[in-house]
Amino acid sequence: MKNRFPVTRTTHPKEKPQDENNLGFAKVFTDHMFVMDYDEGQGWHDGRVVPYEPLQIDPASCVLHYAQMMFEGMKAYRRPDGVLQIFRPDMNIKRMARTAERMCIPELPGDILIDGIEAVLREDADWMPKAPGTSMYIRPFIFADEVSFSALWANHYRFIILLAPTGAYYGSFTGKLSASRIYVQDKYIRAARGGTGFAKVGGNYGGAMRAARDAAEYHCKDVLWLDAAEHKYVEEIGTSNAFFRINDEVYTASLDSGTILPGITRDSVIRLLKSWNIPVHEGKLEFAKVLEAAKDGSLQEIFASGTAAVISPIGSLTFEGVDYQVADGEAGPLATKLYTNLYGMQTGTVEDTMGWTYPFDIVVK
Ligand code: COI
Repeated sequence: MKNRFPVTRTTHPKEKPQDENNLGFAKVFTDHMFVMDYDEGQGWHDGRVVPYEPLQIDPASCVLHYAQMMFEGMKAYRRPDGVLQIFRPDMNIKRMARTAERMCIPELPGDILIDGIEAVLREDADWMPKAPGTSMYIRPFIFADEVSFSALWANHYRFIILLAPTGAYYGSFTGKLSASRIYVQDKYIRAARGGTGFAKVGGNYGGAMRAARDAAEYHCKDVLWLDAAEHKYVEEIGTSNAFFRINDEVYTASLDSGTILPGITRDSVIRLLKSWNIPVHEGKLEFAKVLEAAKDGSLQEIFASGTAAVISPIGSLTFEGVDYQVADGEAGPLATKLYTNLYGMQTGTVEDTMGWTYPFDIVVK
Protein backbone atom coordinates (compact mmCIF):
# COMPACT_ATOMS: atom_id res chain seq x y z
CA MET A 1 0.00 0.00 0.00
CA LYS A 2 1.64 3.22 -1.18
CA ASN A 3 -0.73 5.65 0.58
CA ARG A 4 -1.97 5.58 4.19
CA PHE A 5 -5.10 7.55 4.98
CA PRO A 6 -6.50 8.73 8.33
CA VAL A 7 -9.69 7.03 9.46
CA THR A 8 -12.58 8.49 11.46
CA ARG A 9 -14.86 5.67 12.61
CA THR A 10 -18.60 6.16 12.76
CA THR A 11 -20.18 6.42 16.19
CA HIS A 12 -23.56 5.32 14.73
CA PRO A 13 -23.07 2.01 12.88
CA LYS A 14 -26.09 1.20 10.71
CA GLU A 15 -28.06 -2.03 10.75
CA LYS A 16 -26.76 -4.45 8.12
CA PRO A 17 -29.12 -6.07 5.60
CA GLN A 18 -30.85 -9.11 7.14
CA ASP A 19 -31.66 -11.00 3.95
CA GLU A 20 -28.56 -11.33 1.76
CA ASN A 21 -30.59 -13.18 -0.88
CA ASN A 22 -32.65 -10.09 -1.60
CA LEU A 23 -30.09 -7.31 -1.59
CA GLY A 24 -31.01 -5.99 -5.03
CA PHE A 25 -28.47 -3.73 -6.68
CA ALA A 26 -26.69 -1.13 -4.50
CA LYS A 27 -29.65 -0.09 -2.35
CA VAL A 28 -27.85 0.05 1.00
CA PHE A 29 -24.46 1.58 1.70
CA THR A 30 -21.85 0.75 4.31
CA ASP A 31 -20.84 2.79 7.36
CA HIS A 32 -17.85 4.62 5.84
CA MET A 33 -16.70 6.31 2.66
CA PHE A 34 -13.40 7.50 1.23
CA VAL A 35 -13.13 11.21 0.39
CA MET A 36 -10.32 13.23 -1.23
CA ASP A 37 -10.10 16.79 -2.58
CA TYR A 38 -8.45 18.38 -5.57
CA ASP A 39 -7.42 22.00 -5.80
CA GLU A 40 -5.68 23.60 -8.76
CA GLY A 41 -2.03 24.10 -7.82
CA GLN A 42 -2.20 21.58 -4.98
CA GLY A 43 -3.33 18.45 -6.79
CA TRP A 44 -5.19 15.57 -5.07
CA HIS A 45 -4.87 15.93 -1.30
CA ASP A 46 -6.29 14.96 2.08
CA GLY A 47 -7.51 11.46 1.35
CA ARG A 48 -9.46 10.14 4.34
CA VAL A 49 -11.96 7.52 5.46
CA VAL A 50 -14.94 9.12 7.19
CA PRO A 51 -18.42 8.04 8.32
CA TYR A 52 -20.92 7.72 5.45
CA GLU A 53 -23.11 10.81 5.62
CA PRO A 54 -24.90 13.33 3.37
CA LEU A 55 -22.59 15.82 1.68
CA GLN A 56 -22.58 19.56 2.27
CA ILE A 57 -22.74 20.93 -1.25
CA ASP A 58 -23.33 24.50 -2.39
CA PRO A 59 -26.50 24.69 -4.53
CA ALA A 60 -24.50 26.67 -7.12
CA SER A 61 -21.88 23.93 -7.34
CA CYS A 62 -21.21 23.42 -11.03
CA VAL A 63 -21.76 19.65 -11.06
CA LEU A 64 -25.42 20.23 -10.15
CA HIS A 65 -25.87 22.41 -13.24
CA TYR A 66 -23.43 21.21 -15.90
CA ALA A 67 -22.77 17.61 -14.84
CA GLN A 68 -18.98 17.76 -14.86
CA MET A 69 -18.49 14.40 -13.19
CA MET A 70 -17.34 10.85 -13.82
CA PHE A 71 -17.60 7.51 -12.10
CA GLU A 72 -16.42 3.91 -12.16
CA GLY A 73 -18.05 0.62 -11.24
CA MET A 74 -16.08 -2.17 -9.56
CA LYS A 75 -16.76 -5.03 -7.17
CA ALA A 76 -14.99 -6.71 -4.26
CA TYR A 77 -15.44 -10.46 -3.83
CA ARG A 78 -14.82 -12.84 -0.96
CA ARG A 79 -12.79 -15.98 -1.72
CA PRO A 80 -13.57 -19.27 0.08
CA ASP A 81 -10.52 -18.62 2.34
CA GLY A 82 -12.07 -15.28 3.35
CA VAL A 83 -9.62 -13.05 1.42
CA LEU A 84 -11.26 -10.03 -0.24
CA GLN A 85 -10.22 -9.26 -3.81
CA ILE A 86 -11.06 -7.01 -6.72
CA PHE A 87 -10.97 -7.72 -10.46
CA ARG A 88 -8.69 -6.16 -13.11
CA PRO A 89 -8.34 -2.76 -11.39
CA ASP A 90 -5.67 -1.79 -13.95
CA MET A 91 -8.48 -1.61 -16.52
CA ASN A 92 -10.53 0.74 -14.31
CA ILE A 93 -7.48 2.95 -13.86
CA LYS A 94 -6.98 3.20 -17.62
CA ARG A 95 -10.68 3.88 -18.24
CA MET A 96 -10.73 6.54 -15.52
CA ALA A 97 -7.84 8.31 -17.21
CA ARG A 98 -9.66 8.34 -20.57
CA THR A 99 -12.89 9.57 -18.97
CA ALA A 100 -11.07 12.26 -16.99
CA GLU A 101 -9.38 13.53 -20.16
CA ARG A 102 -12.74 13.71 -21.99
CA MET A 103 -14.42 15.55 -19.09
CA CYS A 104 -11.53 18.00 -18.33
CA ILE A 105 -11.27 16.43 -14.87
CA PRO A 106 -7.77 16.11 -13.34
CA GLU A 107 -6.50 12.54 -13.57
CA LEU A 108 -6.56 10.57 -10.34
CA PRO A 109 -3.38 8.49 -9.81
CA GLY A 110 -4.20 4.78 -9.98
CA ASP A 111 -2.55 3.97 -6.65
CA ILE A 112 -4.95 6.38 -4.91
CA LEU A 113 -7.93 4.51 -6.38
CA ILE A 114 -6.61 1.11 -5.21
CA ASP A 115 -5.40 2.30 -1.79
CA GLY A 116 -8.62 4.28 -1.23
CA ILE A 117 -10.69 1.17 -1.96
CA GLU A 118 -8.53 -0.92 0.37
CA ALA A 119 -8.77 1.67 3.14
CA VAL A 120 -12.58 1.90 3.14
CA LEU A 121 -13.08 -1.83 2.50
CA ARG A 122 -10.92 -2.61 5.54
CA GLU A 123 -13.20 -0.49 7.76
CA ASP A 124 -16.40 -2.03 6.33
CA ALA A 125 -15.19 -5.60 5.72
CA ASP A 126 -17.91 -6.91 8.06
CA TRP A 127 -20.48 -5.64 5.51
CA MET A 128 -19.19 -8.09 2.89
CA PRO A 129 -22.13 -10.29 1.83
CA LYS A 130 -21.58 -14.06 1.67
CA ALA A 131 -24.70 -15.40 -0.11
CA PRO A 132 -24.24 -16.93 -3.61
CA GLY A 133 -24.33 -14.33 -6.41
CA THR A 134 -23.52 -11.40 -4.09
CA SER A 135 -20.54 -9.05 -3.92
CA MET A 136 -19.59 -5.60 -2.63
CA TYR A 137 -20.26 -3.00 -5.33
CA ILE A 138 -17.64 -0.23 -5.34
CA ARG A 139 -18.57 3.17 -6.73
CA PRO A 140 -15.65 5.60 -7.11
CA PHE A 141 -16.75 8.99 -8.49
CA ILE A 142 -15.38 12.48 -9.00
CA PHE A 143 -17.36 15.67 -9.31
CA ALA A 144 -16.65 19.37 -9.79
CA ASP A 145 -17.82 21.30 -6.73
CA GLU A 146 -16.70 24.77 -7.63
CA VAL A 147 -19.32 27.45 -7.05
CA SER A 148 -19.84 29.03 -10.45
CA PHE A 149 -22.36 29.21 -13.27
CA SER A 150 -19.64 29.53 -15.90
CA ALA A 151 -19.96 26.48 -18.10
CA LEU A 152 -16.22 25.86 -17.79
CA TRP A 153 -14.09 23.20 -16.14
CA ALA A 154 -13.66 23.69 -12.42
CA ASN A 155 -10.59 24.19 -10.22
CA HIS A 156 -11.91 22.14 -7.31
CA TYR A 157 -13.11 18.53 -7.35
CA ARG A 158 -14.04 15.85 -4.86
CA PHE A 159 -13.33 12.13 -5.18
CA ILE A 160 -15.47 9.71 -3.19
CA ILE A 161 -15.66 5.92 -2.93
CA LEU A 162 -18.88 4.29 -1.70
CA LEU A 163 -19.47 0.60 -0.98
CA ALA A 164 -22.77 -1.24 -1.31
CA PRO A 165 -23.42 -4.93 -0.57
CA THR A 166 -25.11 -6.08 -3.74
CA GLY A 167 -27.03 -8.87 -5.46
CA ALA A 168 -28.16 -9.21 -9.08
CA TYR A 169 -28.64 -6.06 -11.23
CA TYR A 170 -31.57 -7.52 -13.17
CA GLY A 171 -34.06 -9.39 -10.97
CA SER A 172 -32.91 -11.65 -8.17
CA PHE A 173 -30.36 -14.45 -8.22
CA THR A 174 -32.04 -17.77 -7.57
CA GLY A 175 -29.06 -20.04 -8.13
CA LYS A 176 -29.65 -19.97 -11.90
CA LEU A 177 -29.33 -17.10 -14.38
CA SER A 178 -32.69 -15.73 -15.44
CA ALA A 179 -33.33 -14.27 -18.89
CA SER A 180 -34.69 -10.74 -19.42
CA ARG A 181 -36.99 -9.13 -21.97
CA ILE A 182 -35.36 -6.29 -23.90
CA TYR A 183 -36.98 -3.47 -25.89
CA VAL A 184 -35.32 -2.50 -29.16
CA GLN A 185 -34.99 1.28 -28.98
CA ASP A 186 -35.19 2.83 -32.44
CA LYS A 187 -36.19 6.38 -31.46
CA TYR A 188 -33.77 7.61 -28.78
CA ILE A 189 -30.01 7.10 -28.96
CA ARG A 190 -27.39 6.57 -26.27
CA ALA A 191 -24.23 7.96 -27.84
CA ALA A 192 -22.99 9.53 -31.07
CA ARG A 193 -19.51 9.72 -32.60
CA GLY A 194 -17.49 12.42 -30.89
CA GLY A 195 -19.71 12.32 -27.80
CA THR A 196 -19.10 10.73 -24.42
CA GLY A 197 -20.31 7.16 -25.09
CA PHE A 198 -16.88 5.64 -24.38
CA ALA A 199 -16.56 7.53 -21.08
CA LYS A 200 -18.15 6.70 -17.75
CA VAL A 201 -20.15 9.85 -17.07
CA GLY A 202 -23.52 10.41 -15.43
CA GLY A 203 -24.96 12.23 -18.47
CA ASN A 204 -24.86 9.03 -20.53
CA TYR A 205 -27.13 7.38 -17.97
CA GLY A 206 -29.44 10.35 -17.28
CA GLY A 207 -30.03 10.72 -21.01
CA ALA A 208 -30.92 7.03 -21.27
CA MET A 209 -33.72 7.02 -18.71
CA ARG A 210 -36.46 8.14 -21.12
CA ALA A 211 -35.66 5.16 -23.33
CA ALA A 212 -35.66 2.78 -20.35
CA ARG A 213 -39.13 4.08 -19.45
CA ASP A 214 -40.40 3.10 -22.91
CA ALA A 215 -38.97 -0.34 -22.26
CA ALA A 216 -40.76 -0.61 -18.92
CA GLU A 217 -44.09 0.19 -20.63
CA TYR A 218 -43.55 -2.96 -22.68
CA HIS A 219 -42.61 -4.94 -19.53
CA CYS A 220 -38.99 -5.03 -20.69
CA LYS A 221 -36.05 -4.77 -18.28
CA ASP A 222 -34.01 -2.51 -20.54
CA VAL A 223 -33.28 -1.42 -24.10
CA LEU A 224 -31.14 -2.60 -26.98
CA TRP A 225 -29.49 0.56 -28.31
CA LEU A 226 -28.96 1.06 -32.04
CA ASP A 227 -26.33 3.36 -33.54
CA ALA A 228 -27.09 7.10 -33.62
CA ALA A 229 -26.32 7.78 -37.28
CA GLU A 230 -28.46 5.15 -39.03
CA HIS A 231 -30.41 3.32 -36.30
CA LYS A 232 -29.21 0.20 -38.06
CA TYR A 233 -26.44 -1.47 -36.04
CA VAL A 234 -26.64 -2.96 -32.53
CA GLU A 235 -24.59 -1.16 -29.89
CA GLU A 236 -25.28 -1.84 -26.20
CA ILE A 237 -27.96 -3.29 -23.90
CA GLY A 238 -29.10 -0.82 -21.25
CA THR A 239 -26.01 0.07 -19.21
CA SER A 240 -24.05 -2.96 -20.44
CA ASN A 241 -22.21 -4.27 -23.50
CA ALA A 242 -24.09 -6.62 -25.81
CA PHE A 243 -23.12 -10.02 -27.25
CA PHE A 244 -24.96 -12.05 -29.92
CA ARG A 245 -24.31 -15.73 -30.66
CA ILE A 246 -25.37 -16.68 -34.17
CA ASN A 247 -24.38 -19.98 -35.84
CA ASP A 248 -21.79 -20.66 -33.11
CA GLU A 249 -19.97 -17.35 -33.67
CA VAL A 250 -20.14 -14.40 -31.29
CA TYR A 251 -20.61 -10.75 -32.32
CA THR A 252 -20.20 -7.55 -30.34
CA ALA A 253 -19.88 -3.88 -31.33
CA SER A 254 -16.28 -2.69 -31.70
CA LEU A 255 -14.86 0.17 -29.66
CA ASP A 256 -13.74 2.03 -32.81
CA SER A 257 -16.77 4.33 -33.07
CA GLY A 258 -16.15 5.83 -29.60
CA THR A 259 -19.82 5.19 -28.76
CA ILE A 260 -19.28 1.95 -26.86
CA LEU A 261 -18.20 1.75 -23.22
CA PRO A 262 -14.95 -0.26 -22.98
CA GLY A 263 -16.36 -2.68 -20.44
CA ILE A 264 -13.95 -4.66 -18.31
CA THR A 265 -16.37 -7.59 -18.36
CA ARG A 266 -16.66 -7.10 -22.15
CA ASP A 267 -12.89 -7.43 -22.54
CA SER A 268 -12.82 -10.44 -20.20
CA VAL A 269 -15.62 -12.16 -22.18
CA ILE A 270 -13.76 -11.64 -25.46
CA ARG A 271 -10.52 -12.97 -24.00
CA LEU A 272 -12.20 -16.01 -22.46
CA LEU A 273 -14.05 -16.81 -25.71
CA LYS A 274 -10.79 -16.60 -27.66
CA SER A 275 -9.09 -18.89 -25.14
CA TRP A 276 -11.92 -21.39 -25.73
CA ASN A 277 -11.44 -21.12 -29.53
CA ILE A 278 -14.89 -19.59 -30.04
CA PRO A 279 -14.85 -17.11 -32.95
CA VAL A 280 -15.59 -13.54 -31.78
CA HIS A 281 -16.21 -10.65 -34.16
CA GLU A 282 -15.84 -7.07 -32.92
CA GLY A 283 -17.56 -4.92 -35.52
CA LYS A 284 -20.85 -3.76 -36.96
CA LEU A 285 -23.82 -6.10 -36.69
CA GLU A 286 -27.06 -5.02 -38.37
CA PHE A 287 -30.13 -5.34 -36.19
CA ALA A 288 -31.92 -6.69 -39.31
CA LYS A 289 -29.47 -9.65 -39.28
CA VAL A 290 -30.32 -10.35 -35.63
CA LEU A 291 -34.05 -10.37 -36.46
CA GLU A 292 -33.47 -12.63 -39.45
CA ALA A 293 -31.46 -15.00 -37.23
CA ALA A 294 -34.22 -14.97 -34.60
CA LYS A 295 -36.74 -15.93 -37.29
CA ASP A 296 -34.67 -18.66 -38.99
CA GLY A 297 -33.51 -20.20 -35.68
CA SER A 298 -29.79 -19.37 -36.03
CA LEU A 299 -29.87 -16.83 -33.17
CA GLN A 300 -28.64 -18.98 -30.28
CA GLU A 301 -28.04 -16.42 -27.52
CA ILE A 302 -27.96 -12.76 -26.60
CA PHE A 303 -26.41 -11.58 -23.35
CA ALA A 304 -25.38 -8.34 -21.69
CA SER A 305 -22.06 -7.98 -19.89
CA GLY A 306 -21.03 -5.45 -17.28
CA THR A 307 -19.69 -5.03 -13.77
CA ALA A 308 -23.21 -4.63 -12.40
CA ALA A 309 -24.92 -7.00 -14.85
CA VAL A 310 -22.07 -9.59 -14.80
CA ILE A 311 -23.48 -11.81 -17.58
CA SER A 312 -27.21 -11.26 -18.06
CA PRO A 313 -28.94 -13.45 -20.66
CA ILE A 314 -31.68 -11.97 -22.87
CA GLY A 315 -34.71 -14.19 -23.48
CA SER A 316 -36.65 -12.02 -25.93
CA LEU A 317 -36.54 -8.81 -27.97
CA THR A 318 -39.55 -6.55 -28.38
CA PHE A 319 -39.46 -4.62 -31.66
CA GLU A 320 -42.30 -2.57 -33.14
CA GLY A 321 -44.73 -4.22 -30.76
CA VAL A 322 -43.73 -7.79 -31.68
CA ASP A 323 -41.84 -10.19 -29.37
CA TYR A 324 -39.02 -12.24 -30.84
CA GLN A 325 -37.90 -15.08 -28.60
CA VAL A 326 -34.17 -15.83 -28.42
CA ALA A 327 -33.77 -19.63 -28.85
CA ASP A 328 -35.82 -21.25 -26.02
CA GLY A 329 -36.11 -17.93 -24.14
CA GLU A 330 -33.92 -19.15 -21.27
CA ALA A 331 -30.29 -18.50 -20.23
CA GLY A 332 -28.10 -20.05 -22.95
CA PRO A 333 -25.13 -22.41 -22.40
CA LEU A 334 -22.43 -19.91 -23.37
CA ALA A 335 -23.79 -17.14 -21.12
CA THR A 336 -23.99 -19.66 -18.28
CA LYS A 337 -20.42 -20.92 -18.90
CA LEU A 338 -19.10 -17.34 -19.02
CA TYR A 339 -20.92 -16.42 -15.81
CA THR A 340 -19.67 -19.54 -14.03
CA ASN A 341 -16.06 -18.91 -15.07
CA LEU A 342 -16.00 -15.15 -14.50
CA TYR A 343 -17.85 -15.09 -11.19
CA GLY A 344 -15.90 -18.23 -10.22
CA MET A 345 -12.56 -16.51 -10.86
CA GLN A 346 -13.74 -13.38 -9.10
CA THR A 347 -14.81 -15.31 -6.01
CA GLY A 348 -11.88 -17.73 -6.08
CA THR A 349 -13.82 -20.94 -6.80
CA VAL A 350 -12.37 -21.20 -10.33
CA GLU A 351 -8.62 -20.90 -10.89
CA ASP A 352 -7.63 -17.45 -12.16
CA THR A 353 -5.57 -18.56 -15.17
CA MET A 354 -5.55 -15.00 -16.54
CA GLY A 355 -3.98 -13.19 -13.57
CA TRP A 356 -7.04 -10.94 -13.33
CA THR A 357 -7.69 -10.95 -9.59
CA TYR A 358 -6.16 -8.48 -7.14
CA PRO A 359 -6.30 -9.78 -3.54
CA PHE A 360 -6.10 -7.40 -0.58
CA ASP A 361 -4.60 -8.18 2.78
CA ILE A 362 -8.13 -8.29 4.24
CA VAL A 363 -9.72 -11.53 5.46
CA VAL A 364 -13.37 -11.98 6.38
CA LYS A 365 -14.13 -15.31 8.03
C1 COI B 1 -21.60 -0.92 -13.76
O1 COI B 1 -21.86 -1.91 -14.44
O2 COI B 1 -20.79 -0.95 -12.82
C2 COI B 1 -22.19 0.37 -14.05
O3 COI B 1 -21.57 1.34 -13.74
C3 COI B 1 -23.55 0.48 -14.62
C4 COI B 1 -24.45 1.15 -13.62
C5 COI B 1 -25.70 1.61 -14.25
C6 COI B 1 -24.76 0.27 -12.48
